[in-house]
Amino acid sequence: MARNKVTIVGSGNVGATCAHWIASKELADVVLVDIVEGAAKGKALDLAESAPVMNFDLNIIGSGNYELTADSDVVVITAGVPRKKDPVTGQFPSRDELVKTNQGIVGEVTRQVAKYSPNSILIVVSNPLDAMCHVALNESGFPSQRVIGQAGALDTARYKTFLAMELGLSVRDIHAMVLGGHGDEMVPLPRHTSVAGIPIRELIPEDRLQAIIERTRKGGGEIVSLLGYSGYYAPAAGTVEMVEAILKDQKRVIPSAVLLNGQYGYTGLYIGVPAVLGANGIESVIEMQLNDEEKAMLEVSAKAVRSVVGVLGY
Ligand code: 2OP
Repeated sequence: MARNKVTIVGSGNVGATCAHWIASKELADVVLVDIVEGAAKGKALDLAESAPVMNFDLNIIGSGNYELTADSDVVVITAGVPRKKDPVTGQFPSRDELVKTNQGIVGEVTRQVAKYSPNSILIVVSNPLDAMCHVALNESGFPSQRVIGQAGALDTARYKTFLAMELGLSVRDIHAMVLGGHGDEMVPLPRHTSVAGIPIRELIPEDRLQAIIERTRKGGGEIVSLLGYSGYYAPAAGTVEMVEAILKDQKRVIPSAVLLNGQYGYTGLYIGVPAVLGANGIESVIEMQLNDEEKAMLEVSAKAVRSVVGVLGY
């Protein structure tokens, strides 16, 4: 059986950490691509040199162009600029400016990877996440089953972590899901949260639960305010969870940004929902029965996503 191959575009913190964990789990050969060729080559070589000690046996290469990415099974797109101050004017770019800039970057990356790996499955990680999924879908021309956004895996991991910390219990026994767009309006679902099957509301007072939900919604910002830049361990972990589910055809249920086609009452919009991930990418979307309050929260989140997607001009 031929080895699997994963391309990661963007050798920044998220991309490099994805490569690291794909290697340590020995999931696939890795091609790390960056317009800054030295960064891609340097990080790939450095990681490859750890193999004799860490006991993985894979080809890990870096490149400044896309030829070496040919016939990848999965492509992870992390490229894009973060929201940061202009060193000259001291101003932050407007949200719309950032969307447009990253639309250009993700669009170009997508055209390149789609050309060399026309049968691949794309996992989008670049922000603003839900909008960048629309860019990758449009520019690749791939069926939406093969263009998936990573957000719910990360947001759910954060929610579970905070619950485990609060309860002093193992994260392994926390079962939960976060739906909606990757923004402050995301929708953690306490009604579907349990510890080893025990409903969370039997274990935690409501005010503490609500505080954890709020912390989850602002989880990305909390890391930025500590580090001065975005997190990468948890974002990469969420991404690699999805890569593994696809490469091993695990049929995992992972909340993912999916182009909805009528499910949950939405059509033509990327939003985070429980998705079954396997060899075909999105194998199906699970439609949960949400109550009125949950539906209303999802609508607030969908509205926020729609307004960013509107900037793209598709
Ligand atoms: C995060 O949630 C910034 O989207 C990134 O950490």
